[in-house]
Amino acid sequence: MISRDTIEEVKNRIDIVDVISDFVSLKKSGANYKALSPFASEKTPSFFVVPSKGIFKDFSSGKGGDAFTFVMEHEKLSYAEAIRYLAKKYGVEIKEDKQSSEEQAAQSEREGLYILMNFAKEFYKEKLLRSEEGQSIGLSYFRERGFTDPTIQKFELGYALEGWDHLSKEALAKGYRQELLEKTGLVVKKEDDGGHGQRTYDRFRGRVIFPVHNLSGKVIAFGARMLGNDKNQPKYINSPETEIYHKSDVLYGLYQGKNAIRQQDNCYLVEGYTDVISMHQADVENVVASSGTALTEQQIKLIRRFSENVTVLFDGDAAGIKAAIRGIDLILKGGLNVRVVLFPDGEDPDSYSRKVGTTAFQAYLKEARQDFVSFKASLFAKEAAGDPIRKAESIKEIVGSISLIPDPVKRSVYIQETSNLLKIAEAVLLTELNKLLIAERKKKDKERLREDDSVPEAQPVEDVIAPAKVDAQSLIQYQERETIRLLLNYSDRKLADQSVAEFLMHELDDVEFTNVTFREIHEVYKQGLVKGELPGSEYFLRHGSEPVKVAVTDLITSRYDTSQHWGDKYNIFIPKEEQVLDQLALTNVLRLKFRIVQKMMEDNLAEVRRAEASGDWDKLDEALTVQTGLKQAEQELAKELGIVVAR
Ligand code: UTP
Ligand code: MN
Repeated sequence: MISRDTIEEVKNRIDIVDVISDFVSLKKSGANYKALSPFASEKTPSFFVVPSKGIFKDFSSGKGGDAFTFVMEHEKLSYAEAIRYLAKKYGVEIKEDKQSSEEQAAQSEREGLYILMNFAKEFYKEKLLRSEEGQSIGLSYFRERGFTDPTIQKFELGYALEGWDHLSKEALAKGYRQELLEKTGLVVKKEDDGGHGQRTYDRFRGRVIFPVHNLSGKVIAFGARMLGNDKNQPKYINSPETEIYHKSDVLYGLYQGKNAIRQQDNCYLVEGYTDVISMHQADVENVVASSGTALTEQQIKLIRRFSENVTVLFDGDAAGIKAAIRGIDLILKGGLNVRVVLFPDGEDPDSYSRKVGTTAFQAYLKEARQDFVSFKASLFAKEAAGDPIRKAESIKEIVGSISLIPDPVKRSVYIQETSNLLKIAEAVLLTELNKLLIAERKKKDKERLREDDSVPEAQPVEDVIAPAKVDAQSLIQYQERETIRLLLNYSDRKLADQSVAEFLMHELDDVEFTNVTFREIHEVYKQGLVKGELPGSEYFLRHGSEPVKVAVTDLITSRYDTSQHWGDKYNIFIPKEEQVLDQLALTNVLRLKFRIVQKMMEDNLAEVRRAEASGDWDKLDEALTVQTGLKQAEQELAKELGIVVAR
């Protein structure tokens, strides 16, 4: 927790022009400054800074705010991170409020790891550029790969000398503790058989070094590639998981590429270190690598912070494609738009960009880019040509991917497109899609029920609303009865600008009461309102049917105020309902509508089941759409009522 004083101090010192100038080149324009938007690509400046007010406004993206907001938006930092960044920039000492001693210990341990990793990075860099071995082996290897000096600097590439302990010896001499060296994974511990206890040695030896940076540019891991072709060694060795390095949360190249990803609104995804670097050399900077494995959920979320569009670059070998396709389903599920670029056989982004050069490479990325679902469909279409069984499998495969896309509009576009590509009727694809969606829904419902069981007492008593499946009809009737009770007892009482009766009748204009008796009473009120004279309770006692007489007697004499009952029982102060009539009337209306929607959902769900059982897929599709609409209405009403319903 950063202290208030620190935040105030930072606020006092910052100059918004100075802060933003670190990222954007501002031009003076009168009393203000302008520039090309750093959040969108544009040709005429629409980004303004108003120093007198300490704010910026970006008319392209609509973003705006103070210096803190800018740093948060531009660097994708949290509020606390932005304060730290600005405190550092202006030399404000950060004072922390009461951190527990464990938190402090963990924090300072992480700090220690960062510092040591930074030391190692500098050490490897130095050896690459200044040592005889580094130059003749490491540097010449990078040169061979076509890496330029600026690239080597941008990625802070390095070299680890041959030998068991160059790094550890230097680190220990500089005062870093052995324990910390082990915790960073820079040294490896090995049990010694000769009875001399433990032996440790440098993990990376005789290899070129690729540092892995976190989002703020700190080194958290290394990848190290061997040189030469010793078949007994792994080509790459990577840092193990540590306190500061969680492989599944990290994307190589994101630190160097994040601004370009945001500006281009697209993120290229490649296999590894060398592909990322080669792309930068070809002036394509919006690129990250997952380091040889499929993307994790966290990595997808990470990309999403910068862009919703991912373009996956595939090597041109057929065996690899099928494997890579599996991993892409998770990206679709994460709600990202996925496109692919397939390279010619035997080429990867690294080899191809060097082969054809920057201009042709960039042109290829644009031309060869295709939508993922269409790509997958045409891939399977080719394979399945003339083979009905394979064709059926293909449909399952492709529709399986489509079913993962969260946005229903996108799903239906893809269904149409797949129908064209595979020459299969849309209805057939929809059938398959609906099967999958229903199965998924059922699974979710089951999970939800299980969750519901586990948290029964958390909600306040009055707000516990039974799920729709529990007798929605009787809940509707209860609410209808409440409406009638309010009408009978308070019809001409004034709310803000109308009477209780006017309000209730107006709000429930389109509602048909389900209970016959209540409907009869409701009808009389409706007519009365038109005529301009409302019936009193005596009217019903004289002219009503027998059931109406009974109901009205009941409603005007007994106390239906359940809250009152609770008030007596639990000794809670509850205002008299006359005092809260407006609220009561509104809540009643909302509750009645809420119950009706729930009943409709229940009925419609039966419709869904019937359609599913009879294989009427058009009807099923329609019913599912209705259900979505109803669910939304339910959520909205629930929100107004301040109650929680399951999603
Ligand atoms: P490559 O085998 O293409 O690596 O793997 P490379 O360094 O580009 O080698 P050559 O010159 O083409 O033969 C592509 C990426 O996969 C990751 C690395 O990030 C590499 O850049 N990789 C590969 C590993 O992490 N570990 C490995 O053992 C191999
Ligand atoms: Mn390669």
